[in-house]
Amino acid sequence: MSNFYPDHLIDLCHFMDIVPAVNQVETHVFFQQVEARKYMDELDVRHMSWGPLAEGKNGFFTNETLATIGAKHGKTGPQVALRYLLQRGVIVIPKSVHKERMAQNLQLFDFTLTYAEMTEILKLDTTQPVIMPSHHDPEITKMFMGFAPRG
Ligand SMILES: NC(=O)c1ccc[n+]([C@@H]2O[C@H](COP(=O)([O-])OP(=O)(O)OC[C@H]3O[C@@H](n4cnc5c(N)ncnc54)[C@H](OP(=O)(O)O)[C@@H]3O)[C@@H](O)[C@H]2O)c1
Repeated sequence: MSNFYPDHLIDLCHFMDIVPAVNQVETHVFFQQVEARKYMDELDVRHMSWGPLAEGKNGFFTNETLATIGAKHGKTGPQVALRYLLQRGVIVIPKSVHKERMAQNLQLFDFTLTYAEMTEILKLDTTQPVIMPSHHDPEITKMFMGFAPRG
């Protein structure tokens, strides 16, 4: 399932016989979902990232912290950002229509970020979404539901 934040996730898990396996939520270095993740772990729901490259927002592809760490490993900033999520136990589904980028986005398993590097990337977290505005905004919910007033 997608975009279930802790309030709704707890509600859903409480009333379902089968707990959902995966919850896909906006997650990237600028919005790391540290709080929401605690509840997913508690409920035994796997955390999956949509927008793992922040859809390029906030200067993601030119971020200096990521590029500097990447240079030490012979990797790009995006690879560092994806590896960071993997090391935090997040499932990632980066999207690209370019074959070479798809290949680059898969080359994540031949290096490991150090504790110090992980700590540095943790500092990039703004704790706010950068792609999709709040899923708690009723106007956004109406938009998703294609909601039209009765009559
Ligand atoms: N459940 C939900 O509510 C939800 C919401 C949004 C998205 N999603 C899903 O999440 C997945 C990925 O998220 P997303 O597409 O929103 O964002 P994303 O993966 O964070 O970013 C995709 C963007 O990054 C570019 N890109 C990819 N790899 C790159 C690289 N190595 N170097 C430079 N640019 C690169 C892509 O351009 P090119 O394609 O031109 O390479 C595309 O513009 C998709 O499968 C999508 O369907 C789910």
